[in-house]
Formats: sequence, C-alpha cells, structure tokens
Amino acid sequence: MIGRATGRPVTITGLGCYVPERVVTNDELAGLVDTSDAWIRERTGIRERRVAAEAEAMSDISLPAARQALEQAGVRAEDVDLIIVATVTPDMAFPATATLVADQIGAADAAAYDLSAGCTGFMYALAQAHAMVAAGLAHKALVVGGDVLSRILDWTDRSTLVLFGDGAGAVVLEPSAEAGFLGFELGADGAGGPELFFPGSGSRLSTDGQKHFLTMNGREVFKFATRILASSAEAILEACELTVDDIDVYVPHQANVRIIDHAVRKLGFPEEKVVVNVDRYGNTSSGSIPLALAEAAADGRLKPGSLVLMTGMGAGLTWGSAIIRWTHPVGATQTNGAST
Ligand code: ACO
Repeated sequence: MIGRATGRPVTITGLGCYVPERVVTNDELAGLVDTSDAWIRERTGIRERRVAAEAEAMSDISLPAARQALEQAGVRAEDVDLIIVATVTPDMAFPATATLVADQIGAADAAAYDLSAGCTGFMYALAQAHAMVAAGLAHKALVVGGDVLSRILDWTDRSTLVLFGDGAGAVVLEPSAEAGFLGFELGADGAGGPELFFPGSGSRLSTDGQKHFLTMNGREVFKFATRILASSAEAILEACELTVDDIDVYVPHQANVRIIDHAVRKLGFPEEKVVVNVDRYGNTSSGSIPLALAEAAADGRLKPGSLVLMTGMGAGLTWGSAIIRWTHPVGATQTNGAST
C-alpha cells in the first residue's frame, strides 16, 4: 500500500530508546563459534551488540524507552489512548506486551496490542498509529519498537548469532498544527516467508530437523534487502513528489552496513545524510529505526524542519517506508550506557 498522509495533521512529539547494559563484542562471539572480529566487521560492519540480561524481557526494555518518549513529549501516561508494541519477541504470546507496558506506565484504558511484522514492525506500527490519530480515533499514541532477539538465536550458529542485538525505541504521536507525517509505503511478499522464520513459535508444529531458533537464508535476505530498501524509498519519494535532495536525514533499517551502502549508492544519498549505528548495536529488528532516530537526535541531525526518510525491511518478507517532517525538538536520549 502507498499513500500520502490524509486526515488531521499528525506528528512525533517525543522519542526515547533503551538498550541493555551488556555489551557483547565480536571477540566474545569468536570464543563461542568459529568466527572472527575481522569476518564480522568486513561482512556486516558490526563491532558489538547489546544483549539483555536473563531477567530482561521485551516489556522491560520497552519501559525506559516509553517513559522517555512520554517525558520528551510532555504527555502524561494516563492521557495515552493507544499503545502499539511492534515486536517478534514479546514477553509471551499473550497477554500482549503492550498491555504490560500500559499497566506499568499507568495508561489505564488505553487500547494496547502487539504487532508482528519482523524488523519492519516499527514502520507498520507507525502507519497504524498515524491512521488512528489522523482519523480522530486516538489522540495520544505511543508506539514502541524493539526486540530481544538474543533469546531466540541459536548461540552455536555463527551465520545468525553475529548479526543481531537487543534494543527498543519509542515515539509519541499527536495531532499538531504542522503536519509531520507526509506519506507511507508498506508491503509484504509472503512467498519469501521461508527465508527468515522462527519454527515452533506458534500453532504450526516444527517439522523434523527444524530447531526452535531464528532461521535465515542470509543470501536471499541480503538480495531482498538491497532491492527493497531502494525501491521502497523511491516509491514513497515519488508519491510525496520529493527527491533525495529534499531529504535531510536518511534512516535505513540497520541490518548490515553492506546493505545500507548498497541502498545509499543506488539512491544517491551523500554520506552525511545517512544514519548508521549498526556497528554498535547490530540488527535490533523493530528497535533499529527508533534507535537510529535517537542517534540522529543525539548528533544534531534530527531537528525541527528536518525531512526524514525511514525504510525498514524484514521477516515476512515485509518492508515499509515513511517520510516525516520533524516538527518538535528532541534532546539527546538516554539509553542506559549506549553511546547515542
Ligand atoms: N564467521 C565466519 N564465517 C562465516 C560466518 C561467520 N559469522 N557466517 C557465515 N560464514 C561463512 C559461510 O559459512 C560461508 O562459508 P563457505 O564459503 O565455506 O560456505 C562464507 O562465510 C560466506 O558466506 P555467505 O553467506 O556467502 O556470506 P555473505 O557475504 O553473504 O554474508 C550475511 C552473510 C552477513 C549473513 C549476509 O548474507 C547478510 O547480511 N544477509 C542479510 C541478513 C539480514 O539482514 N537479516 C535480517 C533481516 S531483518 C529481520 O527481519 C530480522
């Protein structure tokens, strides 16, 4: 689906993020599986990632991000009427992690649910929250994106272990005088589902030999990612009658620096407009885009007036882009020791 934002103008008024304290370096992983710091850096650009503590689940890493986003927005939790948590690693299948977050922050009576769209979850959730606020159904929406992928990785499989990390981010959406969101492009190709899946995680029993871990065909996902990052961005730029030159900040999904480089070359973005933090966090799935937004806020690139293009892609196979005019000042975000 593709379209320009309609209805009452909606913007992002607050941003927060959080990553677990524990830093796991490439060298540490090289002590567990047959890999090396040099291989991981060269093939992915990743230097280190954050890994949740044993007692930390998705709701735990969501809460600091959510609280920070609300504080920045100046919104009281009790005034929030919609909470969407985009994740493939909820605390449990039910109740939804969003309801746990609602309870913890004190957002009594808010509609609260989880959304599953792989690493694209945050983009899908943004589009849904935007639509509900633009239509007048919701007035103050909290969108959280994040994952604790370390929990579903096979820690003996070098082909997936080195790629992912844990983290979460959150934004607050409100109606505003000045439109923030300009348009969205979202899609899915279900035929690509077998390229990236989590066997045994639902009502489909896993078949012989399938282990209960994130399972990925890295080469196919790589091909999909390089194609879709560029094509989705091009589609939404055209729909909004904008060009790459109009965009101030480009926030691609942080999966692999080679995938980002490919998209940047294809689209023609100058380096200074591109946000990259995959080197420090790895692929945090639905946390990737809000963590990258926080990075751009911290280094001063994300400021009122900035035109931002975000594109996510992931399991499904899914993808999603949005263009937003940043309208509100955001201070540096606190992330529990993260360097953003
Ligand atoms: N350390 C050392 N060697 C490794 C490692 C490792 N960690 N992993 C794989 N290798 C080996 C392979 O076994 C292979 O060896 P062989 O030639 O003897 O068979 C060799 O390295 C090359 O493997 P390739 O798969 O061809 O390596 P490639 O350059 O394609 O990089 C990678 C692999 C990094 C996984 C890449 O394909 C990729 O980034 N894919 C996209 C992954 C991705 O973005 N996934 C997330 C999507 S978003 C979501 O929803 C979660």
